[in-house]
Amino acid sequence: MSKTLLEVDSSPLGEGSVSRQLTHEFVEMWKGANHDGRVITRDLNATDIVPIDAAWIAAAYTPEAQQTPAQRDLLRRSEQLIAELNSADEYVFGVPMHNFSVPSVLKLWIDQIARVNKTFSYATGKPEGLLKGKKATILISSGGRYDQGTAMASWNFVEPYLRTVLAFLGVTDASFITAGGASAVASGKVDRASFFEPLVESIRARFQPAL
Ligand SMILES: Cc1cc2nc3c(=O)[nH]c(=O)nc-3n(C[C@H](O)[C@H](O)[C@H](O)COP(=O)(O)O)c2cc1C
Repeated sequence: MSKTLLEVDSSPLGEGSVSRQLTHEFVEMWKGANHDGRVITRDLNATDIVPIDAAWIAAAYTPEAQQTPAQRDLLRRSEQLIAELNSADEYVFGVPMHNFSVPSVLKLWIDQIARVNKTFSYATGKPEGLLKGKKATILISSGGRYDQGTAMASWNFVEPYLRTVLAFLGVTDASFITAGGASAVASGKVDRASFFEPLVESIRARFQPAL
């Protein structure tokens, strides 16, 4: 059966973006492995998403049958973004670290797609993620390095946050590749090609069949 990949980009830096180059590499390899596959591209820097407010929250917590036309309008973008998540088998996220966390456009997206009885449920009393059987790859770029075991590791709120949000929504098969030290590329201390080489290799390894 043909598969669908959802690509979610969140860097404002277009062509020069490290995370966008990584998602591009991933998508090309994914297409190579899924010739009849479909790719949905969701560029969060080219998507109007408003912050959630009291009216939006009230709409989201109103049972569908009782929602007013105005409430349905408020939830339209959220419905569209959730439909993309449901229709894809796999997700790839490009995430630049901004101020030790995710870019604000990605947080806006998360607030739209984390919806009770749509992507998570408390029906049994315990939280249950409703995005089941999905696989996610998260490609993070950061100016500094936040490697495990170093003093800086606790400053990294990107990976732990995304791991938690995705697991809460049911996406427990999530793997992370971090392009740390990107500031050395920006300052010209490290050339772009040698910076990307091991990262592209790590992505390629995800597409090699396990021996
Ligand atoms: C607004 C802004 C905030 C940033 N905050 C951090 C940060 O907190 N820690 C860090 O290591 N790098 C930080 N950086 C550097 C970026 O993470 C780095 O340049 C990365 O390559 C950005 O990914 P991109 O090229 O895909 O946009 C920041 C960059 C910008 C533009």
